[in-house]
Amino acid sequence: MADIVGFGGYVPERVMTNDDWAELLDTTDEWIVTRTGIKERRFAADDESTLDLAAAASEIAIADAGLAPANIGEIILATDTPEVYTPDTSSLLQHRLGCREISTFDLGGSGCAGFVQAVDVARARIAFDPKNILVVGVELISRLMSWDDRSICVLFGDAAGAIVMAPDGGKARVLDVVTGTDGSKAPILTLETGGTRRPFNEESLAAGDHQRLVMHGGEVFKEAVRRMSAAVAEVLGRIDATVEDVALVIPHQANKRIIDAVGKKLSLEPDQVFINVDRYGNTGSATVPLALWEAVSEGRVARGDLVVLTAFGAGFHWAAAAVQF
Ligand code: ACO
Repeated sequence: MADIVGFGGYVPERVMTNDDWAELLDTTDEWIVTRTGIKERRFAADDESTLDLAAAASEIAIADAGLAPANIGEIILATDTPEVYTPDTSSLLQHRLGCREISTFDLGGSGCAGFVQAVDVARARIAFDPKNILVVGVELISRLMSWDDRSICVLFGDAAGAIVMAPDGGKARVLDVVTGTDGSKAPILTLETGGTRRPFNEESLAAGDHQRLVMHGGEVFKEAVRRMSAAVAEVLGRIDATVEDVALVIPHQANKRIIDAVGKKLSLEPDQVFINVDRYGNTGSATVPLALWEAVSEGRVARGDLVVLTAFGAGFHWAAAAVQF
């Protein structure tokens, strides 16, 4: 077991509303709200990068834990939109925060499931080597996505979230985590150009393929509902709890319809489900830690509450974590 001792989050100032998108593309506020529940999202300023977002959320989480960067013993950072291709963003974050020469690594490519997977890795690392671990989910998607694909670009936003995990003494205890992967579903959500199979070349750049996220929306929707519902049920079963024991489920914020369908499948009451996708859109691996930080800051969780985090992501990956406040 491991504790969460600090929470943090950061969203850029710039607000991009659905009406702003409607000025650039053939879309409407009505289409976006009906299909996704998203009303607005935040986009990073031109002089902000992934590292800036990650550092801002991390500083809040470290301060919330009553710690200094020197007390952090490891960093695990989940992102699909890294600061640079190589090295990983976690090493840049170690230097930016002024941490000691600790071990750091990125979890990349698992999309929106990355943060909850990182919580699972962190608790295992703490069990073998007790220390404070900074766990970050961050995405700056607006700079890497295609701004002319209306079926994709209206879904996303930029943000970061972070927690500090420690062996004990925290505000919340991670009781258990389940994770899983079905690689046969990789083609339903993929960005292929830029890897070794399809390296960048003049043709792919001209076609904008390096920014072309291929998403089979209906398939992703079905898998997301199926896998997140099953993961929540599984992690509750492992701690001998039921949905009635749960104060709040914090699901990956991809789409309100997906969240509602998970709630229905699990027979959750509306006030048992945290939603902020209307204000931030899908911020990838940042949605869960950002929502967790908001839920804690807004007093939506109190001591004694059982909270379940759950996410799905490209891969296809899924995960759920049971957290006792
Ligand atoms: N504005 C207006 N019309 C649009 C837009 C837009 N922004 N985007 C697509 N359309 C059109 C389509 O072209 C299509 O037109 P057509 O019927 O003339 O061909 C029509 O709207 C319907 O499109 P559908 O794809 O059938 O719409 P659907 O109701 O399935 O909703 C959506 C699409 C919102 C993407 C849905 O499939 C969905 O939510 N899927 C899950 C997506 C998701 O959450 N992905 C996760 C991203 S990554 C991650 O989180 C791990």
